Amino acid sequence: MKTRVLMVCLGNICRSPLAEGILASKLDPTKFEVDSAGTAGYHVGELPDRRSIATAKLHGLDISYQRSRKFIKNDFKTFDFIFAMDQSNYNNILALAETEADRKKVYMILNQISPNSNAEVPDPYYGGDQGFENVYQMLDEACAIFAKNNS
Ligand code: 4NP
Repeated sequence: MKTRVLMVCLGNICRSPLAEGILASKLDPTKFEVDSAGTAGYHVGELPDRRSIATAKLHGLDISYQRSRKFIKNDFKTFDFIFAMDQSNYNNILALAETEADRKKVYMILNQISPNSNAEVPDPYYGGDQGFENVYQMLDEACAIFAKNNS
């Protein structure tokens, strides 16, 4: 059985597509499946934001195969780990949880780096390109720790 990891942000076009691409690149695809979703449905069916695609490409990753989808209740059954980018995503995910088992799967992604800090990956949507590189660097560090501890 593969271990399944879901990355979640608000729109599933900026942060979580980068998180999906970065983590997938660090894990054995025969053992892990990585996906992403948004708590809001504003961008369903769309490609990642062009700035996320460009930032990933700068680091040798292709995330242009991804399409935005909304987080659904059934994701609690499908996935083993559900990582929120910020507190608002975390709260929105938990609001859909029905069991203690569901709730236990949900984590703040940057707690991989600093346990219990509840630090947030800032939403880069309304900012410039540097915001996307900043997000990339945070996620790369967090995903490297997850990959090391779970491979
Ligand atoms: P994301 O960024 O949650 O990292 O995908 C956003 C993308 C779109 C919007 C907000 C955040 N929006 O309001 O459309």
